Amino acid sequence: MSSATASAPSKVMLLGDHAVVYGYPCIVTAADLRVQVTARLLGAPEVTIHAAGLAQPYATTVEQLVSDRELPRKVGFVAAALRHFWRSHGAAFGVELVTRSQFSQSYGLGSSSAVTVATIAALAAAAGRAVDRDRIFQLSYETVLEVQEGIGSGFDVAAATYGGTLYYVTGGKAIHPLAQGALPLVVGYSGVKARTTDYVRKVAQMQRRFPDYVGFVMESIGKTVDRARSALEQGDHELFGQYMNLNQGCLAALEVSTPELDALISAARRAGAYGAKLSGAGGGDCMIALVGEESRAPVEAAIRGLDIPGAELLAVRTGAEGVRLEPS
Ligand code: PMV
Repeated sequence: MSSATASAPSKVMLLGDHAVVYGYPCIVTAADLRVQVTARLLGAPEVTIHAAGLAQPYATTVEQLVSDRELPRKVGFVAAALRHFWRSHGAAFGVELVTRSQFSQSYGLGSSSAVTVATIAALAAAAGRAVDRDRIFQLSYETVLEVQEGIGSGFDVAAATYGGTLYYVTGGKAIHPLAQGALPLVVGYSGVKARTTDYVRKVAQMQRRFPDYVGFVMESIGKTVDRARSALEQGDHELFGQYMNLNQGCLAALEVSTPELDALISAARRAGAYGAKLSGAGGGDCMIALVGEESRAPVEAAIRGLDIPGAELLAVRTGAEGVRLEPS
């Protein structure tokens, strides 16, 4: 029986968090911590999913998974991707799926989107189907929307699929590759795991109560992204950092920052970062800081020196390659 392995990168949101859900652009970069999925077709109509953190593999039959309304929580994205692939393929088949990750899903670096993209790519290769990146993006984004009850711009799916640094508009209306290579970023985990959908809903609630105010903030974020894009294209990291700070001000106004994130951000700025902000939905997860050659070491030391339970400095290189097949 045929088998294939694919891997996809994690991501950090450089600018445009939340506003991207309201139709404004964002800038996202793929990070080199990867998720790998191996798909092995089986002769029998059975499905087994081995995932990190699962004491027992999840096992079911093809028939059961096709008809199940509720997806198993711990393997929700993988199972949903499989079901979605079966539908697009026109036939369901038995398969064993094994997932491995180079990073904790607590960090908020996009493990769900990476595992979804890698699952679709591994299944396509194992089933002998030629599927290009645009199709992988489409199938993966539909899968993520199904699991997240319609919530999500797909920026993380785009980073996992195409890699590099992207200027992105929700639903993939624009996916433009920007500067190649890695950006000098310092990434700090705040020690708190946040649920993206909770914070997207929280902002939506605020938008219903204060539509003019939230509309103004979102528009400001959108403008910041467009100006920062030019700064990035001109290699002006100092200016890009200032836009990160302005963006953080807007996110704080949306009440999605936290005391832990604020502490990481001010420590990074005090130590000489060009700019620092939260990355993603807020409520926890990671802080990112853009640094110069001379400020990297002091910024890293400042983050390490903070007394925040569970907080840590993460070694992340940006501008990573998108989804790819790996030797099995
Ligand atoms: O929390 P994350 O890393 O999944 O980022 C969410 C970013 C939002 O803009 C708030 C939502 C989205 O889907 O774009």
